[in-house]
Amino acid sequence: MSNPSLLILAGDGIGPEVMGQVRRIIDWYGEKRDLKFDVSEDLVGGAAYDAHGTPLHDDTMAKAQEVDAVLLGAVGGPKYDVLDFSVKPERGLLRLRKEMDLYANLRPAQCFDALADFSSLKRDVVAGLDIMIVRELTSGIYFGEPRGIFEEGNERVGINTQRYTESEIERVARSAFELARRRGNKVCSMEKANVMESGILWREVVQKIHDEEYPDVELSHMYADAGAMQLCRWPKQFDVIVTDNLFGDLLSDAAAMLTGSLGMLPSASLGAPMANGRPKAMYEPVHGSAPDIAGQGKANPIACILSFAMALRYSFDQGAEADRLEAAIEKVLRDGVRTADLLGEEGATPVSTSEMGDAILAALDSSL
Ligand code: IPM
Ligand code: MG
Repeated sequence: MSNPSLLILAGDGIGPEVMGQVRRIIDWYGEKRDLKFDVSEDLVGGAAYDAHGTPLHDDTMAKAQEVDAVLLGAVGGPKYDVLDFSVKPERGLLRLRKEMDLYANLRPAQCFDALADFSSLKRDVVAGLDIMIVRELTSGIYFGEPRGIFEEGNERVGINTQRYTESEIERVARSAFELARRRGNKVCSMEKANVMESGILWREVVQKIHDEEYPDVELSHMYADAGAMQLCRWPKQFDVIVTDNLFGDLLSDAAAMLTGSLGMLPSASLGAPMANGRPKAMYEPVHGSAPDIAGQGKANPIACILSFAMALRYSFDQGAEADRLEAAIEKVLRDGVRTADLLGEEGATPVSTSEMGDAILAALDSSL
């Protein structure tokens, strides 16, 4: 049997730097665990625009559809701010999500004990935090029609449309309930059913899927604004949160920051199973391209490496190896190894991106 295939799209800014460390981890698994992957690389975002005049070449899109999983770094940067909306780096990412139909975006917010004092919230509020946000990723206001900037009388009007079909809500609700069964068995669904019809439908459909298929899972509903407040007040009340594309974008950034650093959080975007039974999948860190520190070897590669751990778990059925990688990262943090983003004002010397990679590889070695 041939090796599973990975397409690496490192993208812009710190993307290539953090992905360089993921390459080393992938090689380690090939050498030390006989877990080999066929890895190819291509361009996305501004890097693709520079080479081809488009943030995602059709050939790259076709490759992404073929492979077992895509690993993405980050896209965007100030250099591309002047570009027309249709070719902005972000469009490349959104096209991948849409055309691969990656409707379930899993964004864990986990607080590593060694970093609990890093959060802007008190240690007892965040220590041990482990929540999973399931964000709908291929519909809602990000993609709904009509959209655009139109003339209306003597002024312009900007329009985006929040639109959800029942089947779109059903499938992401099932993803959330399935995950909950393997975790704390609790789902909180967030929308604004008090002001939006799409929210009323969302609530009804999530409740129906629960009652018909997952009555054993504890389900609650919350308005998304109250949800944001509760996330800051007492985040440990949540296990799985399921929400739409836009609210999920906001709530996941807020949840991420509870854990101390955006540089720590991975994500998985999953679609329907392919012929080989694996879900269509793309894995990427939650953080962006961080142009202010790009190219300086300062970036924290952990979010990107943890995204590869999610790939091991969700695409390749290697849960034990994912645990091994996560444990190696925990060990390195316990040992006090810190990139600049994890140091705050303390004035200690940070390690570089590749030194963090060295430390994680050493911890992996000692796990054998
Ligand atoms: C994210 C990002 C993207 C989004 C941008 C880069 C298009 O913020 O993945 O959360 O809004 O979905
Ligand atoms: Mg976002």
